[in-house]
Amino acid sequence: MDIKDNLLTLADGNEMPQEGFGLYKVDGQATMNQAVKKAYEDGYRLFDTAQLYGNEQEVGMAFKQLAIPRDNIFVTTKVAEENQGYDTAIESVKESLHKLQMDYVDLLLVHWPIERSFFDTWRAFEEMKKEGLTRSIGVSNYQMIHLQYLATQANEMPVVDQIELHPLLTQKPLLEFNRQHQIVTQAWSPLGRGAVLNEPVLKDIAAAHNKSIAQIILRWHFQNGVSFIPKSVHEERIAQNADIYDFELNAQEMAQIDALNAYHRTGREPELVYEYNKQY
Ligand SMILES: NC(=O)c1ccc[n+]([C@@H]2O[C@H](COP(=O)([O-])OP(=O)(O)OC[C@H]3O[C@@H](n4cnc5c(N)ncnc54)[C@H](OP(=O)(O)O)[C@@H]3O)[C@@H](O)[C@H]2O)c1
Repeated sequence: MDIKDNLLTLADGNEMPQEGFGLYKVDGQATMNQAVKKAYEDGYRLFDTAQLYGNEQEVGMAFKQLAIPRDNIFVTTKVAEENQGYDTAIESVKESLHKLQMDYVDLLLVHWPIERSFFDTWRAFEEMKKEGLTRSIGVSNYQMIHLQYLATQANEMPVVDQIELHPLLTQKPLLEFNRQHQIVTQAWSPLGRGAVLNEPVLKDIAAAHNKSIAQIILRWHFQNGVSFIPKSVHEERIAQNADIYDFELNAQEMAQIDALNAYHRTGREPELVYEYNKQY
């Protein structure tokens, strides 16, 4: 197996690469083209952007300029808090598609749960899937309580929940809940934005396998069965992050990494974003 043929099947029947490429803070057309080109050459097929990142135009331009066929890639975008609500979500996704120069995205996510438009936004998502603006619909930063609340009115449940997930925030109960409900968990900041790259335990495991710490963490995600979307603008790291399919962590090593959990968030607390109706 390698990154290109490593696919997960979603609850709606669509396939999604397990490993993808994060595009947050990949800015400027030249940097975007260089990163996307290298990632595509190395076998990445899932590209993760968002309205909030302000780079959908550059992402679309990169695929065009690099002549990457639409069918070969899996593109995710996310609806920002300010665009939530029935009509505004649909309008904003049409605008995103315009910027991306695409007729559809593969996966559309509600970026954060917010109280103000919780059900209206999801109704718009179900409609956009029917209309073909997106192949699959999902959420991001939803905790168990948000998913349970959504289930009280949803006709279709999200097939993906993209959450902050790395060795300092392992979220085991949420992973188990998602598994039981056929929701694929996708790890954002899978490397903890660099916060875990100096952990002695990880250094030892990396040395034992002759791999980098980043590779050990990504392999841990892979063996946990979650999807993950590391970001880098450096060619050597882009290649390294895709090169995790030729070794295996044993049960003891997996447990050692699990034990690093410290409930440490690099991002916002979803409960507070829900209450404030925006990222604070
Ligand atoms: N849904 C959400 O709310 C949400 C929130 C945050 C992020 N995301 C998504 O998740 C993606 C990934 O998260 P992220 O960008 O926050 O963090 P990340 O992927 O955990 O870490 C990225 C950082 O690690 C560095 N890095 C990457 N590979 C490395 C390696 N092999 N060795 C050493 N350092 C390495 C990168 O630096 P260089 O680029 O300089 O190499 C960058 O500073 C984002 O790009 C975005 O698509 C979603």
